[in-house]
Amino acid sequence: MSRVYNFSAGPSCLPEEVLKSAAEEMMDYKGTGQSVMEMSHRSKAYEPIIAETESLVRELMNVPSNYKILFLQGGASTQFAMVPMNLKKNGKAAYINTGVWSKKAIAEAKKYLSVEVLASSDDKNFSYIPKVEKVTGDYDYVHITLNNTIMGTHYEYIPDTGDIPLVADISSCILSEPLDVSKFGLLYAGAQKNLAPAGVTLVIIREDLIPEEPIEGTPTMLAYKTHSENGSMYNTPPCYTIYIMGKVLQWIKANGGAEGMKKRNYEKANLFYDYLDNSDYYHATAEKGSRSIMNIPFLTKYDGDKATEINKKFVSEAASAGLVNLAGHRLVGGMRASIYNAMSLEGVKALIAFMDKFAKEN
Ligand SMILES: Cc1ncc(COP(=O)(O)O)c(C=O)c1O
Repeated sequence: MSRVYNFSAGPSCLPEEVLKSAAEEMMDYKGTGQSVMEMSHRSKAYEPIIAETESLVRELMNVPSNYKILFLQGGASTQFAMVPMNLKKNGKAAYINTGVWSKKAIAEAKKYLSVEVLASSDDKNFSYIPKVEKVTGDYDYVHITLNNTIMGTHYEYIPDTGDIPLVADISSCILSEPLDVSKFGLLYAGAQKNLAPAGVTLVIIREDLIPEEPIEGTPTMLAYKTHSENGSMYNTPPCYTIYIMGKVLQWIKANGGAEGMKKRNYEKANLFYDYLDNSDYYHATAEKGSRSIMNIPFLTKYDGDKATEINKKFVSEAASAGLVNLAGHRLVGGMRASIYNAMSLEGVKALIAFMDKFAKEN
């Protein structure tokens, strides 16, 4: 059996060690005679799984003790609504607009409160992160999308919001490098990029931000309190996904934790950006100073119909060479390589070798 190098933006590649270990335990988890898929979430065998996954999140992200860790469902997209529903006080929130996912978060928040967009990189097709170093005002919270999966941009600074809670969507950069959790009131991430298969959303929330009463009419399942009071077991959690997340976190720990991931990811990203910056055939779309180390969109020197033809050929020939899911998002065009934690340096080197050959032939 041969495995491909998978550059998908999400769901994405998982460490092979994790897949092998899950396969070994598939029919009989630690002598229980069952798969974790089949187990009650309230069983003696399952309890330590979720407890260990939570404690690994705490350890690897250095989460202070006054924060709760929640395992929720509904994807990061459900957080676009849960955040305003639970954090609304005076009725005004500030957002920074850095592309598709920010726009979706803004549109959803507008259903529940008034939104002020502090800055936007809309003027240059979201190819950079606007500088908003300090925020003051009577906002209930400030929301940013720390890594923009589609545009391939990432904040190189954390806005200083003083006492205003800072909320960040970290879906596509969680645990890609160390992050100071204490600077944030709330962090959320869909797991299907750096943590696990799809199905669980990780929320890290400062305890004092969990309201007794979210806005009127909030469904029980959309109140943070429901999940924080019940250890993410108010209803059936996505048990198997949490179990795989635990294995991924063990893999991260064994590979140097967040610092180890940072080293690994910069090595890959620097190699790839250096190649793009020195090429007269390809170029990166994100501006220097705002570049993601996880998602790297790039274009060729062609435009118009020729670009469409070449992009299609690139994606198809790359797939035949075992390099899959490289099509760019339609809003950026060209190609995109998502090189999450689990992507190896060998995978990036194989992509560059293919790109070099393709450029010479086309
Ligand atoms: C930054 C970011 N936020 C939110 C989402 C939406 O996540 P979900 O599909 O888990 O709702 C994505 C999905 O790719 C994303 O990349």
